[in-house]
Amino acid sequence: MKVEQIYTGCLAQGAYYIESEGEAVVIDPLREVKPYLERAKKDGAKIKYVLETHFHADFVSGHQDLARQAWATIVFGPNADPTPNFMARIATDGEILQVGKVSFKVLHTPGHTMESTCYLLRDEAGKDVALFSGDTLFIGDVGRPDLAQKAADMTQEQLAETLFDSLRTKIMPLSDDIVVYPAHGAGSACGKNMSKETSDSLGHQKLVNYALRADMSKAEFVKEVTDGLLPPPAYFSLNVAMNRTGYDPIGSVMERGTRALNARAFEAVAGVADALLLDTRAPEVFAKGFIPNSINIGIDGSFAPWAGAMIPDVKQQILLITDPGREEETVMRLARVGYDHCLGYLEGGFEVWEKEGREVDTIESIDVDLFAERIAKGEAENILDVRKYGEYEAEHITRAETAPLDFLNDSMLHIDRNKTYHVHCAGGYRSMIFISALRARGYDNLIDVAGGFAAMKKSGKFETTEFVCAGK
Ligand SMILES: [Fe+2]
Repeated sequence: MKVEQIYTGCLAQGAYYIESEGEAVVIDPLREVKPYLERAKKDGAKIKYVLETHFHADFVSGHQDLARQAWATIVFGPNADPTPNFMARIATDGEILQVGKVSFKVLHTPGHTMESTCYLLRDEAGKDVALFSGDTLFIGDVGRPDLAQKAADMTQEQLAETLFDSLRTKIMPLSDDIVVYPAHGAGSACGKNMSKETSDSLGHQKLVNYALRADMSKAEFVKEVTDGLLPPPAYFSLNVAMNRTGYDPIGSVMERGTRALNARAFEAVAGVADALLLDTRAPEVFAKGFIPNSINIGIDGSFAPWAGAMIPDVKQQILLITDPGREEETVMRLARVGYDHCLGYLEGGFEVWEKEGREVDTIESIDVDLFAERIAKGEAENILDVRKYGEYEAEHITRAETAPLDFLNDSMLHIDRNKTYHVHCAGGYRSMIFISALRARGYDNLIDVAGGFAAMKKSGKFETTEFVCAGK
């Protein structure tokens, strides 16, 4: 038996490959299904099942493409209602799925969503060895109970109560030595306080995970899991719909997105299609020159979640400006979160655009030393900290105001177009997203502080404050 976790840092997502005696399963695959197919091929194994723990909200799962290409059966747990655009088997609670000499017991664990299901792996001897816990149980946390309120016609409190029962009746009675393999790790918006580790023994989780405390009442649990939940990004419900009702095969999405367009064609398509210009180069490179009205979301960061947070409609048509050679990767990483409508990319990248003498724009970006000087001279009156509110709360530059990128539309309301602002985040990634998005909406007086809060702290030139703002 082989058990492999295939972890994708950008989405903090864990998919799993399990093989026994020439048969394999893949649990919660991402949309790029080639690696799973190649993995099975290497073992000479046939993928028998694609197991889905639930309708994912934060990424488009590869279940449909993988099942099609591997002739495998998609399995969802009870209560799942995928529409007839693809075939799936709806397992019953307690059902056993045989794979080679090992088996999976289906454990219906509603709460995060009502169809949420864990898969309990039993080895060749029939011993419970691992739990693929989806978003029901994370390392250090549990799945948020607010996402499925509409689909379930329940409140987040009712879902939390259901989750409490699932954990207590289905998971906590399992043996302490089984390994918990969740669908997400730290950084995912599917939970609040996930640990850095991506697996752990159930026994250890019972000791350290707040949600598994033995003496916890249902009311305490509900309070703790619903406390401090931030609104989910807009694309979450759209990804659920794609996972439930189907989507275009990844091949056609890639074909459409990886069309090379010369500068003239690029400009023409942009004009006709009302497409979003998405520049995925590093923020410091972007600042020095970019196509007017393009938005920067660097590919070398939490690219997909930020694309999800910044682009409200997954059907938005997108034109890409990438570092040459990274076009295909970019189209794929957008498709991971459901942005299937890339129309192509600028052939040769920004360099060609510039060489042809076409219009370019720039964003002023200064280092922290100059920023400190400006503050001292009274030339940096307005400072925006675009990190998450929790980061700001923990510590911030004394005179900075909070304006989280996560809630750009709200943050924008507090910005006066006629004033100049210095904008920073933690390291320079989010501030350029923020500034470029506002620049495209006509805000011209935002200056980036390169290196962000980390560089400011390192320089020792900035006074910082740690406090909780009243009313926030
Ligand atoms: Fe989820």
